[in-house]
Amino acid sequence: MSFKKKAAMGSLHIPVLADEVALQLVRREGAGSIIVDGTVGGGGHTLALARRVGAGGRVIGLDRDPAMLALAESAVKASGSSSLVTLFHVAYREMRRVLDELRIDRVDGILLDLGLSSDQLAWEYRGFSLSTDGPLDMRFDPHEASPTATELVNQLREDELAQLFFDFGEERFSRRIARRIVEYRQHESIRRTGQLADLVRRSVPGRTRQGSIDPATRVFQALRIAVNDEFSQLDAALQAIPEMLVPGGRAAVISFHSLEDRRIKRAFKANQKLIVLTKKPVTAMAQEVAVNPRARSAKLRVVEKCPNLL
Ligand SMILES: C[S@@+](CC[C@H](N)C(=O)[O-])C[C@H]1O[C@@H](n2cnc3c(N)ncnc32)[C@H](O)[C@@H]1O
Repeated sequence: MSFKKKAAMGSLHIPVLADEVALQLVRREGAGSIIVDGTVGGGGHTLALARRVGAGGRVIGLDRDPAMLALAESAVKASGSSSLVTLFHVAYREMRRVLDELRIDRVDGILLDLGLSSDQLAWEYRGFSLSTDGPLDMRFDPHEASPTATELVNQLREDELAQLFFDFGEERFSRRIARRIVEYRQHESIRRTGQLADLVRRSVPGRTRQGSIDPATRVFQALRIAVNDEFSQLDAALQAIPEMLVPGGRAAVISFHSLEDRRIKRAFKANQKLIVLTKKPVTAMAQEVAVNPRARSAKLRVVEKCPNLL
């Protein structure tokens, strides 16, 4: 299906903690704040921010995935906010370059809503989902030349696969799964999400399965992180954020697993230019989780740049 057709159908994604994020980042409604949404997705948070910045304000939205930007663009148009929102197909670690192009020195707020959108998960041809069968791809930007999950799964050595599943998925059975993958690919290469998910499920003993989640979840998470170099993106952005904020400006980051949350917590705490506003991360209330189960694991951390810094 073309981007245009998909965009006309709208985004499936329900933004997590959207009101909280808009209140935290745009402190004075209608005061003309400039906010960067580094992970626009279907535009849910972008629109919530645009509603609050008001006529003199601006939301600069970035995403690595052109299909998500098409969805966001049609949501922005439909809401009549086109004059407030400017979208860019770029990874969020390039935020500084985008601001330079726009001749903006500093901004009032920055949002990162990590992970992937429900739309990307639902498009089986993108290869993110372990519950539908599709090509094992997992690139956020399908035009990027970076290796796909198929390439990683078929080309990494057994010890490299095991390390990847352990480091990026905290998978207890990482060695066993890596061994099974290497045995399997001696006969047949692994090219489909269904093939990999089944293989992982068969590699993990039933009685020792970790909780009630699908045993393939951690392996899929690890591959997605590696394919998209997600931690380098995140670390670079966390490092660069303080310089891009005005004094008193705020950054909000929403994460969905402990590996991300730990990095965010540490980076924020270590930076002397930042005041941590969320000693404990903000989580979704039961009412939000009831309508959006994805919100259950969301953690929001917010920092403010020290107001007396230049
Ligand atoms: C959880 S979704 C964001 C959802 C969005 N806040 C909304 O309300 O619809 C995460 C988005 O970040 C994008 N993304 C992931 N890594 C990125 C990166 N390094 N730079 C820019 N966008 C990225 C994904 O393509 C996806 O669209």
